[in-house]
Amino acid sequence: MKILIVGSGGREHALAWKAAQSALASEVLVAPGNAGTARETKVRNCPVEATDITALIGLARRERVDLTIVGPEAPLVAGIVDRFTEEGLACLGPTAAAARLEGSKSFAKAFLSRHGIPTARHETFTDVAAVTRYLKDHPGAHVVKADGLASGKGVVVAEDAAAALAAATSMLNGEFGEAGRRIVIEERLMGVEASFIVLADGQDYVAFPTSEDHKRRDDGDLGPNTGGMGAFSPASAVDAALEGQIRREIIEPTLRGLRADGHHYRGFLYAGLMLTADGPKVLEYNCRFGDPETQPIMMRLRSDLVALAHAAVRGELAGATLEIDPQPALCVVLAARGYPAAPRSGDAIIGLDAADPKTKVFHAGTCETGGQVRSCGGRVLGVTGLGTTLEEARAHVYRRLGTIALEGGIYRNDIGRRPYGARS
Ligand code: AMP
Ligand code: GLY
Repeated sequence: MKILIVGSGGREHALAWKAAQSALASEVLVAPGNAGTARETKVRNCPVEATDITALIGLARRERVDLTIVGPEAPLVAGIVDRFTEEGLACLGPTAAAARLEGSKSFAKAFLSRHGIPTARHETFTDVAAVTRYLKDHPGAHVVKADGLASGKGVVVAEDAAAALAAATSMLNGEFGEAGRRIVIEERLMGVEASFIVLADGQDYVAFPTSEDHKRRDDGDLGPNTGGMGAFSPASAVDAALEGQIRREIIEPTLRGLRADGHHYRGFLYAGLMLTADGPKVLEYNCRFGDPETQPIMMRLRSDLVALAHAAVRGELAGATLEIDPQPALCVVLAARGYPAAPRSGDAIIGLDAADPKTKVFHAGTCETGGQVRSCGGRVLGVTGLGTTLEEARAHVYRRLGTIALEGGIYRNDIGRRPYGARS
């Protein structure tokens, strides 16, 4: 089969790398891909942007692609699956209507309430006066969220009402353009976060191993929210009993709720969870795989990704199980200077070619010009490794990172060491 992966980040490199290992895959195309996907065996980059759905359809036809797997949310929310399906092309992901679970926070919150799925209490607003009135009656900490897509940056955890009002005012006044003209303000939940990602086929699903992301830019979970600075799998706080509870109380009601609302959800579904004293609660849904969670999860996945994706798109996942490497995996993101606000591009990356069987360097924002790999995005690399323990995986990853040079590059030193200090 010829596979097309849509996207250019670390997630797409990990998906392409894993898909290329499948005996079912004759070739893996990536549109547009990055300097890392360009170097993988059996993988070829195609210069088509991930959001240019018409050009992607042309590419899939021309290359006689058998199955397209979509990495990022933007094309899903824009209806890539609907358009491919109309053209008779197999494309794994939810329809635009179902992808609103990620594309609109207020839609997701209404869905959660309607189907009785645990989540933070919330209100939706479109004007500053109503926010001001609400915050007078609700002092204390809040989380303010732009309704639409903002690359993981449209969420502010506000310690008090004044900070919540400032964030809400800025969003409603256009900080994130149309994405912030409507906002959600919700109660702040306390606990440990976990990412729970499944692959659904409209009826059945398989669950990938749990993972845990580090969204803040700086050590100790400080600094601005980012797309994710590192992740590891399995999550620190999810044992088998809690995993069962997450499936029963969150994943299965979500898939049932989607079906009840007329959506036969096919594709990856990501529940971002807060594990609170009252049980797991949904912080957000994503209609795709996580980035950087994909990188450690793909390193642990022994099952054939292409076979799974093919079964999911055809509604044939019933009875499928996953084979997972019992070893933990960990990924640390190397980001460009200035990330997330204003990442600098064009810096040379040195040390990529060293052979190291213990780690895999997944590329994200990288481009190759004249034989030199350079940064061309916020998150540049995701160095990922397996180990017999999480500490061993960490040691491999940080050792490898120490051999890579990117001027001004930043990475966190404490990925996999939560709660900070307790395990150091
Ligand atoms: P989201 O994009 O909605 O997942 O939010 C990004 C990050 O903001 C989450 O991973 C959490 O770290 C934090 N966050 C979001 N909602 C809440 C909440 N209700 N309580 C505490 N933290 C939150
Ligand atoms: N790492 C979080 C996300 O993919 O949304």
